[in-house]
Amino acid sequence: MTSTTKSVHIKDGPPSDVEEIKIESDYLRGNLINTMKDSLSAGIPDDDNRLMKFHGSYLQDDRDLRNERQRQKLEPAYQFMIRVRTPAGFATPKQWLVMDELAHKYGNGTLKLTTRQAFQMHGILKWNMKKNIQEMNDALLDSIAACGDVNRNVMCSPNPNESPVHAEVYEWSKKLSEDLLPQTNAYHEIWLDGEKVVDSTEETEPIYGATYLPRKFKIGIAVPPMNDVDVFSQDIGLIAIVEDGKLAGFNVAVGGGMGMAHGDEQTYPQLGRLIGYIPAEQTVEVAKQLMMIQRDYGNRSVRKYARFKYTIDSRGLDWLTGELHSRLGWELEEVRPYHFDHNGDRYGWVKAVNNRWNYTFFVENGRVRDTDSYKLMTALRKIAEIHTGDFRLSPNQNLVLGDVTSANKKEIEAIIETYQLENPAEQSALRRSSMACVSLPTCGLAMAEAERYLPSLITKFEGLLDEAGLGDQEIITRMTGCPNGCARSALAEIGFIGKGPGKYNMYLGGGFAGERLSKIYRENVGEKEILDELRPILNRYAKEREQGEHFGDFVIRAGIVAATTDGTNFHKV
Ligand code: HEM
Ligand code: SF4
Repeated sequence: MTSTTKSVHIKDGPPSDVEEIKIESDYLRGNLINTMKDSLSAGIPDDDNRLMKFHGSYLQDDRDLRNERQRQKLEPAYQFMIRVRTPAGFATPKQWLVMDELAHKYGNGTLKLTTRQAFQMHGILKWNMKKNIQEMNDALLDSIAACGDVNRNVMCSPNPNESPVHAEVYEWSKKLSEDLLPQTNAYHEIWLDGEKVVDSTEETEPIYGATYLPRKFKIGIAVPPMNDVDVFSQDIGLIAIVEDGKLAGFNVAVGGGMGMAHGDEQTYPQLGRLIGYIPAEQTVEVAKQLMMIQRDYGNRSVRKYARFKYTIDSRGLDWLTGELHSRLGWELEEVRPYHFDHNGDRYGWVKAVNNRWNYTFFVENGRVRDTDSYKLMTALRKIAEIHTGDFRLSPNQNLVLGDVTSANKKEIEAIIETYQLENPAEQSALRRSSMACVSLPTCGLAMAEAERYLPSLITKFEGLLDEAGLGDQEIITRMTGCPNGCARSALAEIGFIGKGPGKYNMYLGGGFAGERLSKIYRENVGEKEILDELRPILNRYAKEREQGEHFGDFVIRAGIVAATTDGTNFHKV
């Protein structure tokens, strides 16, 4: 199949409405230039909102205000979220300052560090969107392809200069991100007053074609033994193989993905499956070919069955490798040995190979804001004003201050001291390894609280751990407000997926290093039941665990839940 032109790749029934919108959008332009100018409504029509995603933004409304506004016969409190593409979570201090300024000027005064190492800004009004994007652009930041049916922000283990391999891997994540970007000029025309392409029928998307991908596509690179990027949750997961202290190449895992729909067992979270090893210089070519296989064979009829994982599972892994080898004209080598021991972050000061320092600290659920008692946002602004290194957003919603000189370290330590920034050593291991998605009030898909609720639930879990004599036990705990899985809750040792207000499905048994999915333990439970269920399990864990046994492994050995060995048996209890 050729990879140019405006051909539609439709399989399995008539195309979904989104496919129609894409094909008619003229390479993602739609009517956005005009609808963004329309001052009659703070919102935009649904068709344009579908296209907005490709420009890194969603139309949302403040759900806390929805009922009251409806009562007053007002339209919902429409606002936009912008997601900024930062491959591997890299930002310069200057870029940090710009994000901080824009969050105050146009957003809700907070920043969210996301589970995929990007920034999100919430609460931007329609009239400020263009100015916001232009000011981001002046700081060399953009939101192209941060959402939508394209390759998204490319992740990688962020700890800079921890080894020369980390630096190399960072370069690969940047290159993948750049080389897989859509080529359309639409973003420049709509947001940056770029010159209009005279005849857009001449425009091509050499990789994507005019209908882009059937669904979102995600790539992440891990450097063992850390699996902080949750490499098996990605459509393409790359595992760095290091030989003689240098990056040799990558093991390639395909078809991971976290989302599912409640009540439809044909949808499920799935782990990436390893298909072989590639030398580093083949990375972009292999990623491109895999993405184009998904472009050509993914389901364009029903979006909930459209992710790469279903394309692979419905045809088999052998089909995929056969297709890939024939497109490449060569075969992947055998998977090389690797070992992961953890999917969390490594906190505190770490001396880097170049005698500089990195400081990783805990940002609860990735929300950067000032409160009366904790001026995190101000402290980070002060740090950005004097920091000579860089910022790295971690895949667990935390922040790394990278490339810090010894002299700079003293100044940064003074700011940390003045503002009493969270000392990772003072947070419980349980809290440090917890994660929640945005959920309410901005996410239109949320069924239950996540970011605003998990911190208080963790406090109660800390009490249970104390009661059980488990002290500072680390247990990966994650919560999402719906089954889409934005905080990768299906990979947690204790996971919660929102079902309705105050109610969650409770999952147990995910692997500590992100190597195993969890299993449902209780359906539709509220806080009291959650605590009542967890207390005896933690007590048993305290008494019966083996040396070094992680909680997720214990609940399986103890027969509390069965192991999920593959996404296709995620729902089988
Ligand atoms: C059907 C599937 C999905 C849909 C429709 C969806 C939709 C959304 C929406 C609407 C938001 C914005 C929430 C807000 O900022 O108010 C969001 C946030 C986010 N999503 Fe998803 N999502 C899906 C699955 C996933 C998965 C599987 C991942 C990765 C494992 C993911 C990663 C993210 C990230 C990183 C954020 C940013 C917020 C955060 O870090 O909590 N999404 N998603
Ligand atoms: S998991 Fe659901 S509730 Fe949470 S941000 Fe994603 S879509 Fe929204």
